Amino acid sequence: MISTASTLRLLPCAEEHIPRIRAILEHYVLNTVITFSLVPPTEEDVFQNWKAVLDQRLPFIVAVGDEDQVLGFTYATGFRSARKGYRHTVELSLFCHPDHTAKGIGRRLLTTLIDVLRSPEKFPEYVDKPRSDDDKVRMVLACMAVDESGWENGLGLRDFYVSHGFEEVGHLKRVGHKFDTWIDTRYLQLCLW
Ligand SMILES: CC(C)(COP(=O)(O)OP(=O)(O)OC[C@H]1O[C@@H](n2cnc3c(N)ncnc32)[C@H](O)[C@@H]1OP(=O)(O)O)[C@@H](O)C(=O)NCCC(=O)NCCS
Repeated sequence: MISTASTLRLLPCAEEHIPRIRAILEHYVLNTVITFSLVPPTEEDVFQNWKAVLDQRLPFIVAVGDEDQVLGFTYATGFRSARKGYRHTVELSLFCHPDHTAKGIGRRLLTTLIDVLRSPEKFPEYVDKPRSDDDKVRMVLACMAVDESGWENGLGLRDFYVSHGFEEVGHLKRVGHKFDTWIDTRYLQLCLW
């Protein structure tokens, strides 16, 4: 049975979700320019990334439908986190299963991710030990490739983020190269406090 947004449940990512997350990423790596990865991740790569997100006290959220299939996921990671001056800034990732786009799942995931980042103390299921004031998340970045074959020549995604309160703050031209095409990236930013 095909799940709809109304039967959807959002959950903290668990180890059992890793294979399905990997399969979603494999689809986007092999078939689209929205990620600049050229080689799909292994399950170990996805597992380590999930652990790194939790270690940073950030949320990793999955959307599951009937029979617990993963229909989408979102998470935040520290932006340039090796440099501590960036500690209040995170970058988000958001992917829906290719058979389950444009059903409201991405909107629910992104809304929840922002709510959790803004008030982690209200969501212990996603962040068991919130960050202190010294490294509390303030800025959320969405860094997107412009897939000109996509929705509104790739700018539908930019407008989707704007509808969630993000402001477009940057545009790099032809910085990506995949499938014999030069690809732009656009940067959006949401200030939480
Ligand atoms: C981008 C993405 C997360 C959006 O999630 P989604 O579940 O498909 O989108 P939703 O159904 O929540 O729709 C949100 C809005 O975008 C519109 N929309 C979404 N996909 C659309 C499409 N292909 N064409 C036209 N409009 C679309 C919806 O109509 C909706 O608008 P509304 O709220 O004004 O009605 C999802 O399509 C996806 O995973 N895409 C591929 C991966 C990707 O690009 N990730 C972002 C990397 S930066």
